[in-house]
Amino acid sequence: MVKLALAVLCALLAWNSCEALAETESFCPLKDPPNQCGGFCLSVLTPVLNRLTIPQDQRNPSDLSKSNEVLVRQYTMESQLAALQEKQTTFENSLDSQQKYLDSNQQNLTEKLDDLESQLSALQETLFRVQTKIKYLGFEQIGSKYFYIEKVTEKNWSSASKSCRNMGGHLADIKDQEELTAIQGNLKRDTHYWLGINDLGRRDEYLSMATGKPAPFLKWSSGRPTRLETSNCVFLYNGEMYDYPCNYSFRFICQTDEENE
Ligand SMILES: *[C@@H]1O[C@H](CO)[C@@H](O)[C@H](O)[C@H]1NC(C)=O
Ligand SMILES: *[C@@H]1O[C@H](CO)[C@@H](O)[C@H](O)[C@H]1NC(C)=O
Ligand SMILES: *[C@@H]1O[C@H](CO)[C@@H](O)[C@H](O)[C@H]1NC(C)=O
Repeated sequence: MVKLALAVLCALLAWNSCEALAETESFCPLKDPPNQCGGFCLSVLTPVLNRLTIPQDQRNPSDLSKSNEVLVRQYTMESQLAALQEKQTTFENSLDSQQKYLDSNQQNLTEKLDDLESQLSALQETLFRVQTKIKYLGFEQIGSKYFYIEKVTEKNWSSASKSCRNMGGHLADIKDQEELTAIQGNLKRDTHYWLGINDLGRRDEYLSMATGKPAPFLKWSSGRPTRLETSNCVFLYNGEMYDYPCNYSFRFICQTDEENE
């Protein structure tokens, strides 16, 4: 078996390598390599066999070592390519999982943002209610509107009007009998309360302070209005309205613009 292998190798060497080496006669003295190859071949075989796995030294090129070098290079390149491909796959997998993490994070953040936004709008609503309460501190809901009834201090009409504006409202008008009845339930009997109604602009044209338009509801006491030039402001007394000089001081009723339907 060994002999047969040697013979085959020898034949190969003789044709591929020995002919090239034969140029240096002393190195390959065989005249008939296939037949003569024997013990001699063993002596040349070892270094050549070594060259099969070791890239050929540039100073001593041969066809065989060149093709061997190509093979080695190809093998090296293939293993480098395989390594690169593996790296790429790993990288892609890593990118994939990072993408998944980012997606999940994005979704979590979006959910958190939505949550924060709804909390914010709830807070804003609360804040708005608190602000309204603070702004109209002392106002109470009577019917569909908020009113402030001054129960102690008496002021002339323009001073009472200023007080209402300072509280974020204005002197009240009354929109209908139902509202008048509701308010009267909160007032002291036999007491005067200024309302936000006057004819200071034009005689007998009783305007609402709140809207600048004709008062929505007037309930004159009998004999009123007097149509006197000095009686321009309207007060409420026991559920009825009277025109009277604005420089007199009475209690007063303010209202807010906010309607609570
Ligand atoms: C997103 O939320 C889920 C459930 O709350 C959690 O399991 C996951 O780790 C979160 N993702 C990130 C990227 O924080
Ligand atoms: C109303 O009262 C204020 C403050 O007391 C006073 O300054 C003002 O002159 C009064 N106005 C009228 C029209 O009486
Ligand atoms: C209001 O003004 C009139 C004059 O226009 C005056 O006679 C009257 O005394 C005044 N009343 C008050 C309470 O100031």
